[in-house]
Amino acid sequence: MKNNLYIREVKLSKEIPQSNYLSSLPVVCNLRKMGGLQFHKKVTFIVGENGVGKSTLIEGIAVAMGFNPEGGTVNFNFSTNDSHSDLFNYLTVSRGYLRHRDGFFLRAESFYNVASNIDELDEDASFGPKLISSYGGVSLHKQSHGESFMALVENRFSGNGLYILDEPEAALSPMRLMRLMFCIQELVKKNSQFIISTHSPILMTFPDAEVLEITEEGIHSVNYKDTEHYIVTKRFMDAPEKIIESLLGKG
Ligand SMILES: Nc1ncnc2c1ncn2[C@@H]1O[C@H](COP(=O)(O)OP(=O)(O)OP(=O)(O)O)[C@@H](O)[C@H]1O
Ligand SMILES: [Mg+2]
Repeated sequence: MKNNLYIREVKLSKEIPQSNYLSSLPVVCNLRKMGGLQFHKKVTFIVGENGVGKSTLIEGIAVAMGFNPEGGTVNFNFSTNDSHSDLFNYLTVSRGYLRHRDGFFLRAESFYNVASNIDELDEDASFGPKLISSYGGVSLHKQSHGESFMALVENRFSGNGLYILDEPEAALSPMRLMRLMFCIQELVKKNSQFIISTHSPILMTFPDAEVLEITEEGIHSVNYKDTEHYIVTKRFMDAPEKIIESLLGKG
């Protein structure tokens, strides 16, 4: 199974200076302590508390693999004022034997900029097919957040791909999230690898995925049912009134 992966392992290649905030991030401390992080499955979820460094890690991996730090395919090279870390300078990513033929890095904060860049490139292009035709034909700016995200996945992701997604659930209704899970399954059948940071207890139930939980103590492979996300959400949904009352008092 591992031989089919485009990314097999990520390690720190050199020590990060203490003056750099990255050196004390939980995810970086764990990478140092564990000697590296291995990927075993076609779909890996990175979970953990706000601020442990999930986005920083997947962005570092994406940039080390040649993606634009602000999101998009490897062919996007726009840049805006959005900040990204220099973790990629300190990472070694071990690739598999096969090279991915498609790929996309969804950086939660800058999907808007990807959409703008597609529109700008299409305005400038005097010949050839418009880029937007491979994204469903309608400017991503003329669709809602969720619609544009699903247009991207359904039209642009073609398989044999490496897809690195930061909280894709942020855009999606529960129904569309399940649609995304179906799309992920189809793309996995076509030899794709996904690395996804998520807070969604629905998304992380995806079959045969590995859930890697980052805490102050380490990075551990866990059953989705043992994540705080799943436990807290389940407890809440089992008895919302009771939890709300203990949280907010009687109305
Ligand atoms: N330029 C910076 N200087 C100092 N600290 C920073 C800088 N940029 C980010 N951080 C810190 O890095 C930490 C990790 O951020 P990151 O966005 O990777 O967290 P995350 O695990 O993705 O969180 P979330 O679940 O909220 O998306 C945060 O605590 C953040 O405050
Ligand atoms: Mg994040």
